[in-house]
Amino acid sequence: MSKVSRVDHIAYAVEKGMIEKWAWYHIEVEGGKLTKRVDDVRPDDPDSSMKLWCIDFASFGVVLVEGIDRNKKSQVTAFADCHGDHSVQHIAFDTENLEQFVSHAISKGVNLRGQQLVSNDGFGELKQLFGKGYAKQNAAEMSFPEYVERPKQGASMSTSVPPNTGRNFYQRIEHARNTGDTSTLIDFSLMPSDWAPESKPVAAPGNVSQACAREELAPA
Ligand SMILES: [Fe+2]
Repeated sequence: MSKVSRVDHIAYAVEKGMIEKWAWYHIEVEGGKLTKRVDDVRPDDPDSSMKLWCIDFASFGVVLVEGIDRNKKSQVTAFADCHGDHSVQHIAFDTENLEQFVSHAISKGVNLRGQQLVSNDGFGELKQLFGKGYAKQNAAEMSFPEYVERPKQGASMSTSVPPNTGRNFYQRIEHARNTGDTSTLIDFSLMPSDWAPESKPVAAPGNVSQACAREELAPA
């Protein structure tokens, strides 16, 4: 059974001076709606900060982040320098129950970047938790997953986890970057050596297995 249900949002790191242009693209070309605009998430930080704009598409969201460099280069600037303008910094996946998912993930050896948080990210209230980078690379330059849980049917989030001011996660990446922590999301040595995917794909009309089969048959 799938443990993540859908893409909640996609976060793109954009180059300096590009957030307005990409917001125009997502709003005027794709039809999204700006739901949150923060032009400096860390106004008191002498080192660095970022702009953060959220664009809602109802069934998922787009987050644009643009670095603000001061005494130091912002981690977002570093990411865009490394991967290019409008590059995917992270994709967030929705879970039915974040605590249950986290317990399951940890049992498989998944490394998360700190504790889960409660926040309001421009698409509404949520519980969220970030994974470490997919590959062993500078934490500022490596993409990672986020896992979230949204309140069901308008219910408020009943949890004792600490609130996220929008700064905590930025600080966690900064800490990893400053300390040279390049530890990764998953240690594949923990993967069973005899693991193999189930060999019998489910053959429902229009499902992913059939889509994959069609792609395989399509002429190059
Ligand atoms: Fe996110």
